[in-house]
Amino acid sequence: MAGYLVDDQRKVTTHRLIQMKAEGKKIAMLTSYDYTTASITDGAGIDVILVGDSASNVMAGNWTTLPITLDQMIYHAKAVVRGVKRALVICDMPFGTYQVNETEAVSNAIRIMKETHCDALKLEGGVEILPAVKKILDAGIPICGHLGLTPQAINKFGTYSVRAKEEAEAQKLISDAHALEDAGCFAIVLEKIPAKLAERVSKELTIPIIGIGAGAGCDGQVLVIADMLGMTKGFSPKFLRRYADLNTIMTDAIGHYIEDVKEGDFPNENEQY
Ligand code: KIV
Repeated sequence: MAGYLVDDQRKVTTHRLIQMKAEGKKIAMLTSYDYTTASITDGAGIDVILVGDSASNVMAGNWTTLPITLDQMIYHAKAVVRGVKRALVICDMPFGTYQVNETEAVSNAIRIMKETHCDALKLEGGVEILPAVKKILDAGIPICGHLGLTPQAINKFGTYSVRAKEEAEAQKLISDAHALEDAGCFAIVLEKIPAKLAERVSKELTIPIIGIGAGAGCDGQVLVIADMLGMTKGFSPKFLRRYADLNTIMTDAIGHYIEDVKEGDFPNENEQY
């Protein structure tokens, strides 16, 4: 199986991701928020691990990504980095840490890099956040952009439906993507936009475009790990492919354990001192 438990153990870099695009090699990215999951994901051969602010939903049960704090993202990213040998680790800058002004943005970015030892940061938005993007890049910190459905702006959108279906929004997305590339971003995530638009952006830009709900024309794909492993129930967008049903597997295993404890079957003689 291509890319699964890879032989090439060299650390993935931003430079290598750009090379992968040039060579027509697809990039596989997944989220992780903790040491154990990150070490399994890395060991399986993933190219990029995103410590997404979706930790707010997946790990803390919040309705949106807005409540997660800088300290909480740093906690998650530190744990992930400890579990990773090969993958490039990107950490999301959480809502409110880069929108106020460039000085605050760069000092928060530096804090994440110093405390977590992650490889790069991801910020949501286009020209509106360009001054902050430039300042962070000037400090030598690699940035992955994020356009289309940007969950930190969910209260402005008012819906999680597909973005940039209309011409004006599509045009803005294209010029935002070029602006991020020109500023020096090494990649861009495109979330929940029409496949044709994502394909056009992927063809026009030389940096990798990583899609989530953005079709097969992107240079790579990202999914939230809890969704693709089938841990989450009741979240079934069209773009999500489930590779396992861990919810059922875990529920069965836990049910079995409860039964064994209640019946006095666990621990047995070999499981005690
Ligand atoms: O936070 C996250 O998990 C993300 C992905 C959906 C791209 O930003």
